[in-house]
Amino acid sequence: VASPSSYASLSSCCYNCKGNSTDRSKKDIMLISSRIVRSSPLSSAAEQPEQKYTHFGSKTVLKSTKQKLVGDVFSSVANRYDLMNDVMSLGIHRLWKDHFINKLDAGKRPNSTTPLNFIDVAGGSGDIAFGLLDHAESKFGDTESTMDIVDINPDMLKEGEKRAMEQGKYFKDPRVRFLVSNGEKLEEIDSDSKDIYTVSFGIRNFTDIQKGLNTAYRVLKPGGIFYCLEFSKIENPLMDFAYQQWAKVLPVMGSMIANDYDSYQYLVESIERFPDQETFKSMIEKAGFKSAGYESLTFGICAIHWGIKV
Ligand SMILES: C[S@@+](CC[C@H](N)C(=O)[O-])C[C@H]1O[C@@H](n2cnc3c(N)ncnc32)[C@H](O)[C@@H]1O
Repeated sequence: VASPSSYASLSSCCYNCKGNSTDRSKKDIMLISSRIVRSSPLSSAAEQPEQKYTHFGSKTVLKSTKQKLVGDVFSSVANRYDLMNDVMSLGIHRLWKDHFINKLDAGKRPNSTTPLNFIDVAGGSGDIAFGLLDHAESKFGDTESTMDIVDINPDMLKEGEKRAMEQGKYFKDPRVRFLVSNGEKLEEIDSDSKDIYTVSFGIRNFTDIQKGLNTAYRVLKPGGIFYCLEFSKIENPLMDFAYQQWAKVLPVMGSMIANDYDSYQYLVESIERFPDQETFKSMIEKAGFKSAGYESLTFGICAIHWGIKV
């Protein structure tokens, strides 16, 4: 089993790491890899009792309908996806994504013979997947690692494929697979088959987030890394107040710019509902991951979380 430290570094922690500092994580990763224990993938993931209802933004809906409602939101914004992100984050999402990719620093190292198997879940736009492959190539000369880009929404995946075609890279590339699948189950993905699992601004839309984390644990190889970028909780009360005011305006902006009040309203509410940094970290641990930690970005507007499967 390869050690994650031999193909990714989770480096350059420059904001506000908690749980485990980067140095500590690196040490832990090395420690873990020298005493890898194979555990049953879901053995430490306590299953939640089945509940009938969940939330969709601020509304309570039947679990069985949430997936369709989320699907409608992303079908509706798919062709104006960058616009949506720019409006929601004032353009900062590009910096967060760059930092996310650079910090992970993943790729087949020149002295290694084994390409990596990446999976980017809820990755419709292709932003993260293409960025990770570009980084692996430009930094390590890695042109062999593979990427599954998985999304529940075919419209979002089409958007990613369109981008691949327009940029003339990763379109009809045997290394890259676009797959329609639910991140909570990933039925098409074998257990213990992936080295790196990424999910960016996607997991808060899952009907059952813990199920998604348990599935991430299942598909990763021992030694594999779970790595997530998501909106989070602002730690400074003044900044939080400013953000709350901004969040009130967002659906109105969505309606003016994209004629789509409801989708933007859902996005704001889904951010409010998402667990804070410490709670999400404990959910990652509950799924079975070790060395879990996080880094808050831009006062905690969003955060990077990670964990290692041992
Ligand atoms: C805000 S977009 C993020 C896209 C991309 N990862 C990024 O960072 O730009 C959220 C994505 O999550 C997808 N999604 C929502 N629920 C999902 C699920 N259960 N399984 C897989 N993808 C899901 C949506 O279809 C949408 O493409």
